[in-house]
Amino acid sequence: MKDQINTDRLPKHIAIIMDGNGRWAKQKGLIRAIGHENGTKSVRQTVEACAELGVENLTLYAFSTENWNRPKLEVETLMKLLVSSLKKEIKTLQDNNIKLNAIGNLSLLPKKVYKELLEVIDKTANNSRMTLTLALSYGSREELVQAITEISNKVKNNIISLESIDESVINKHLYTQNLPDVDLLIRTSGEQRISNFLLWQIAYAELFFTKVLWPDFTKQHLYDAIIDYQKRERRFGKTSEQLS
Ligand code: IPE
Ligand code: IPE
Ligand code: MG
Repeated sequence: MKDQINTDRLPKHIAIIMDGNGRWAKQKGLIRAIGHENGTKSVRQTVEACAELGVENLTLYAFSTENWNRPKLEVETLMKLLVSSLKKEIKTLQDNNIKLNAIGNLSLLPKKVYKELLEVIDKTANNSRMTLTLALSYGSREELVQAITEISNKVKNNIISLESIDESVINKHLYTQNLPDVDLLIRTSGEQRISNFLLWQIAYAELFFTKVLWPDFTKQHLYDAIIDYQKRERRFGKTSEQLS
């Protein structure tokens, strides 16, 4: 499968809504926490596969602003898993020259998670092969509210003029300010919705939905998605004739 991928035409930015951990566990008669735990194996596979191929940016939706409304115990399990994964995966990141980044309302994270996260971000800051962004306590609407508030304040205080506001100004005020637009958005588990993820950044992304539950997602599934992506014609509003 990997041989079918044209590495000259890779998506520059892949974003993934990692969904289906709970259902995976339920199907096996296990508790949801085990599903989340097994989901971390898929994270490792995906991160490695992207780095090996040469994908420059990978963004993973790990925890949404809405996920705070889950039962307290599940939220705690997810936060603990985050800390242990960060501790465990720092080596994978260093070995593969991957830089860690995080987007979202990070101030809501438990101190332990926040501290561990900053530590790994700091330690991997000079890595350059790929940027891995974790969306944590992330909600796209909240991101937009935050950006609009910041821009409005700057206008009010004469730091920027109203006339200068354009798409690039908005881009610069989003959590994703240093990332290119998403080229390929993947969602696992059969759900076909966006769930408040990167609304602005996926304006022209190619969408790929698969029924595979996240803990079953492997490198092969990622290759499938990229091969499908490369068969598509991205017209950005133009006609097919204009492109050739
Ligand atoms: C995705 O799996 C992980 C998170 C949202 C944190 P889910 O926990 O949503 O699994 P399902 O959708 O209930 O199967
Ligand atoms: C989206 O999954 C959030 C993450 C994958 C982190 P959810 O399982 O929370 O989404 P909904 O609630 O089914 O839309
Ligand atoms: Mg879900």
